[in-house]
Amino acid sequence: VTTTHADPDLTAYDAFDPQTLQCPWPWYAAMRSDCPVFPTEVNGRRIYLVTTYDLCLQVITDSVTFSNRFGTPALPPSKELSARLRQVRADGDAYNFVPTLLTADPPDHSRYRKLVSKAFSARNIGRLEAPVRAIAVELLDGLPAGEPVEFVSRFAVPLPVRVIAMALNVPESDLTDFKRWSDNTMAAQGVDITDDERVEAERGVVEFQKYFERAIHDRRAHPQDDLLTHLVEATIDPTDPDMAGPDPVRLTDAEILSILQQLLVAGNETTTKALTEMITLLGRHPHVFESLCIDEAARDGVIEETLRLATPGLATWRVATVDVELAGTPIPRGSRILVVLGSANRDTDTFPAGDEFCPAGASTTHLTFGKGPHFCLGASLARMELRITIEEMVRRLRSVSLSVENDFRYLPSFMLRGLTSLNVELELR
Ligand code: HEM
Repeated sequence: VTTTHADPDLTAYDAFDPQTLQCPWPWYAAMRSDCPVFPTEVNGRRIYLVTTYDLCLQVITDSVTFSNRFGTPALPPSKELSARLRQVRADGDAYNFVPTLLTADPPDHSRYRKLVSKAFSARNIGRLEAPVRAIAVELLDGLPAGEPVEFVSRFAVPLPVRVIAMALNVPESDLTDFKRWSDNTMAAQGVDITDDERVEAERGVVEFQKYFERAIHDRRAHPQDDLLTHLVEATIDPTDPDMAGPDPVRLTDAEILSILQQLLVAGNETTTKALTEMITLLGRHPHVFESLCIDEAARDGVIEETLRLATPGLATWRVATVDVELAGTPIPRGSRILVVLGSANRDTDTFPAGDEFCPAGASTTHLTFGKGPHFCLGASLARMELRITIEEMVRRLRSVSLSVENDFRYLPSFMLRGLTSLNVELELR
């Protein structure tokens, strides 16, 4: 979490500038004060950045004016790339993308949300506590003490991937493929990758679909106590007045595949980034780590303040359904709007601590998990993973320090924010 006091010239803003991607905060601060709805060009397309807390909240809670039907969180492909991606799907006999959950609007969204919420009920998530703890303990016990350890690859990546794989009942032997598919689904999110890389990633997405198509059929024939079976078996009451007309009461295969893909996109990397930022912040504030040993209540403050400052889902898309004016900026119908949740979370009108880490003053009003109809379905699972990590670290470790050889490089993305590696040294109790 780098704080700088530079006052940049907004006319020079470039979303893909490498330095800006490393530290976008001064730019967002300048936008919040001078032009809170900021038009810019990305890959030749005009987009509008929304940067203050109040405006971000307004946009993400108004699905009539600001639609989630943006198709894919990746930047829209060129005509030529679209054709190549279509070919990969056709060659793999894959399902065409069905807009569900994150990329659907009410009333369709309400149906998906009802069905998937059942699988993510407090009871089902609560039952994951013991297995999540077992995975966290196994990973922590595998980390050597007294020498530098790369925390991202050794803990922050495997924990959420193994948790979601466990929830879906993916066997250990398929974990490497599962992780690769998770990376493939994320490959183009606010990152400037080449067309060839994007085509390669699409091949992985097709493999993922084929794998889970078989798993869905298996669960229909042989139900188990897992998230996938809960998705397969979830039904809605067709007489429910909130439901859209004659839609099926169960999810189709194509819908489940789209939802699974979203669980990977929405759940894995974000949680990895949050875990990494939490350890970075604790490494930078050793007294806070010490306080956690004696004050259990301080843990929630650390978790919420980490989530606010980290905002791993740095931004999310919306599409204007009508010509609209927002904070004086006209936005034509059909325009893509980038709601910069990470900027909202540092808006000093709402969070006086701004860029500073202040666990004692933490609140849950941050927009890290969104707000409104699309509020993150996995928020309680992500918070559980952060909490268990703190609990098990505090139980084992006297201190966590950041090694001198860290370069603190962030993923070069304006959608997903997090360190790509983090060397730490652990001192056992
Ligand atoms: C720290 C970790 C996480 C962060 C920062 C995060 C962030 C978000 C945000 C900002 C949204 C709303 C996006 C929008 O309104 O456009 C969202 C939605 C969603 N998240 Fe998370 N998420 C996290 C973890 C998870 C996990 C662990 C899962 C599941 C395993 C998950 C599943 C979802 C799903 C399915 C949605 C779509 C909900 C809907 O559209 O109704 N997320 N998440």
